[in-house]
Amino acid sequence: MTNKLKHIAIIMDGNGRWAQKRGLPRTAGHKKGAETLQQIAKAAADMGIEYLTLYAFSTENWKRDKGEVDYLMNLLRQYLKSELKEIQDRGARIKFIGERQMLADDIKAEMSRIEKETAGNNKLTLCVALSYGSRAEIVAAAKKAAELVAKGSLEPEQLTEDMFGSFLYTGEMPDPDLVIRTSGEQRISNYLLWQIAYSEFYFTPTLWPDFSAKELEEIIADFNSRERRYGKV
Ligand code: FPP
Repeated sequence: MTNKLKHIAIIMDGNGRWAQKRGLPRTAGHKKGAETLQQIAKAAADMGIEYLTLYAFSTENWKRDKGEVDYLMNLLRQYLKSELKEIQDRGARIKFIGERQMLADDIKAEMSRIEKETAGNNKLTLCVALSYGSRAEIVAAAKKAAELVAKGSLEPEQLTEDMFGSFLYTGEMPDPDLVIRTSGEQRISNYLLWQIAYSEFYFTPTLWPDFSAKELEEIIADFNSRERRYGKV
């Protein structure tokens, strides 16, 4: 029996090492990494994947040196203004998750515009995690629940897992079936902690700039050969 694969989440890691190996500045790795992101998003849309969530910038990434953060933000600006159009034209709905208030005003405005413009699309949902941290997301959801209780519109015993899940940024999305991390690191790094309770994991040594649609297809084939039991026997 093949597994139903609706949602793939990816931790795009290894841009810096890719550049270092070539004697290039880390930013060259991010530039190539953004090209890979574009290829993989297009491939996912063409393959009929319903949800693809990409970790583009974590809350911890703000602590990198200013030059690298500025470079990533400019890459993001460019990506939002031009490249995303190609994915949008493939019928994708684009959604962003994360702590928006930390981002520059022009970036936030572009994000809202794209979300609005693509809200009615129904092929791939491309979810980009930007300034994202999963613990902060869970705390924000807990605050929402607490506020409802304080207002008297929710009894504590009425709070279910489904309801709590709906308070997360990923609200109406299904949980990831498969999480892929590139670059050989075997960590979760504060990514979708609630949502990955029953996900399958795949760690590949490939550095993100070298990741390809072909490797994605191989990983999906591996996923399809696994037996998922969700805790049952
Ligand atoms: C990890 O590589 C990657 C990131 C911190 C960001 C991911 C960014 C992209 C794929 C480029 C596109 C980005 C935007 C915002 C559109 P790393 O720098 O941690 O690599 P290392 O672990 O080898 O140092």
